[in-house]
Amino acid sequence: MITLLKNQSEVESAVTFLNERKIPLHFTRQKNWDHVCVVNELNRVKRDVKVLDMGSGDGYTLRLLRKLGYRKIQGIDFSKPILRRRQRWLRKFWPFGYTGEHDIVVGDLCDTPFEDEGFDVLTCVSVIEHGVDLERFFRECGRLLKNEGKLIVTFDYWHDFDQGLLVEERIFDLPWCVFNTEMVDEMIGMAAQYGLVVAGEREMPRCEETTVRYRGFDYTFMCVIFEKMNTT
Ligand SMILES: C[S@@+](CC[C@H](N)C(=O)[O-])C[C@H]1O[C@@H](n2cnc3c(N)ncnc32)[C@H](O)[C@@H]1O
Repeated sequence: MITLLKNQSEVESAVTFLNERKIPLHFTRQKNWDHVCVVNELNRVKRDVKVLDMGSGDGYTLRLLRKLGYRKIQGIDFSKPILRRRQRWLRKFWPFGYTGEHDIVVGDLCDTPFEDEGFDVLTCVSVIEHGVDLERFFRECGRLLKNEGKLIVTFDYWHDFDQGLLVEERIFDLPWCVFNTEMVDEMIGMAAQYGLVVAGEREMPRCEETTVRYRGFDYTFMCVIFEKMNTT
């Protein structure tokens, strides 16, 4: 399934949806839309499965997973020191921020220490646009997921975004891209090589309104849900 954040009112609906269920919000308001995509997909998934959050950052998605009742959850991010610093800041100014109760491994999400087929679900919220090597990423996801396991990946997107605009931009000292339609098509083709196929509806949605503005760039968010289909 491929979904697109279509307008600001979808962000507000996502915030209302999470508030009604007493699920703590993501610090970045628009990313609550990503979290609703995660919640909707996990509605079909039992609570006793193993979930890995790839690129956990401050741990918002881990907190969401915990609130949903998942206990076999783990995160990986290569910037735990930043995370710890932010944690102190968050505790002071954002009492609902990262709580530190989650298990976050410091490492590269493209080369993790976890065993083959060790997870039922992988979440990856707003990470792959930050310089992640997609070939290595999908190879690792294909290795980590059990057969019929799900990868829920969200990222910055605009259908005809010109990558040339971002040449000088860096976030977290990493390169940044906003995926366009052509890049998403390539991504889907690449994922398929590692047994990851788009789950359900494969049509590429389109929208006319940019909902996210960051560093002077306008775009939106996309969510793609992949399913691992055993190739053997
Ligand atoms: C925009 S933040 C998103 C964090 C979190 N998923 C969220 O939604 O708040 C991107 C995160 O991905 C992490 N990251 C990027 N590339 C990574 C890699 N190859 N391995 C591990 N972490 C990575 C960065 O350190 C950063 O914490």
